[in-house]
Amino acid sequence: MENCINKIIEGNCVEVMKRFDNDVIDLTVTSPPYDDLRNYKGYVFPFEEIAKELYRITKPGGVVVWVVADATIDATETGTSFKQALYFKEVGFNLHDTMIFRKRNPIPQIYRKRYNNEFEYMFVFSKGVVNTHNPILVDCMHAGLELNGTTYKNYSKNEQKREKLAKPVKDKKIKGNIWEYVVGKKEEDQEAKGHPAPFPCQLVRDHITSWTKSGDIVFDPMCGSGTTPRVAVELGRQYIGIDISHEYCDIARQRVNLIEMQPALFIMEEPTAEYDIAK
Ligand SMILES: C[S@@+](CC[C@H](N)C(=O)[O-])C[C@H]1O[C@@H](n2cnc3c(N)ncnc32)[C@H](O)[C@@H]1O
Repeated sequence: MENCINKIIEGNCVEVMKRFDNDVIDLTVTSPPYDDLRNYKGYVFPFEEIAKELYRITKPGGVVVWVVADATIDATETGTSFKQALYFKEVGFNLHDTMIFRKRNPIPQIYRKRYNNEFEYMFVFSKGVVNTHNPILVDCMHAGLELNGTTYKNYSKNEQKREKLAKPVKDKKIKGNIWEYVVGKKEEDQEAKGHPAPFPCQLVRDHITSWTKSGDIVFDPMCGSGTTPRVAVELGRQYIGIDISHEYCDIARQRVNLIEMQPALFIMEEPTAEYDIAK
């Protein structure tokens, strides 16, 4: 296991994960091949085994972010994303949050009596209760105003109440769970242009800062162009990346090396304090 840390490993992730100890990974950020949409070299995708191995190797309180979308085949969406999410629950994960990755520049589609698809799911699974959450904060629209009351929803208790908790309204609040990114245009994303479906670096950055601390182990079992390892290095985390394709592993190693050789690029942020909604 030790010799896998801070490495990009070429192979079938199910086989490589078998070399890992139990309960070692703090965060996985990954995206599987979607319903055979893209023909990756050497494609083998044993989903159920991957989900079980991810559960075994994730630390208690650790998180898996699974970014996925459905193909439309014979006039119907396949529903694979939902089936996978429910299977993750079956193997023991909590479905902590169903988040949306909204593309600000979606690929225009041929009109097929449906609206242009512009999002993917980001299922956030946790092994028990989440250990680390450094919430991203955004500006409150009504900051400083003396409003009469705000409605708060407590999802765990399934209740919604109207209370005077914040008067005047605070400057910041916790960001919502629909995250928007431009795909493939930024310079840091152009590094991955030999791969057909890389993550935007900022999407990975937002998840790593949300769910881990400095020094934690961040994993991507299907790391493609290596976006997850690249951003993990930049943020002072340890990483493990696996991909079945020799060519993509080369791209991933180049991207990681580029960051490792330029320590000035490292962003060593201080963890934000746990956010207390009642403050
Ligand atoms: C959607 S892409 C991931 C892209 C990646 N998130 C990035 O930022 O570049 C899925 C990747 O899974 C890899 N893959 C498919 N089956 C695999 C397997 N069994 N083990 C490891 N990698 C696999 C493919 O080669 C492909 O690069």
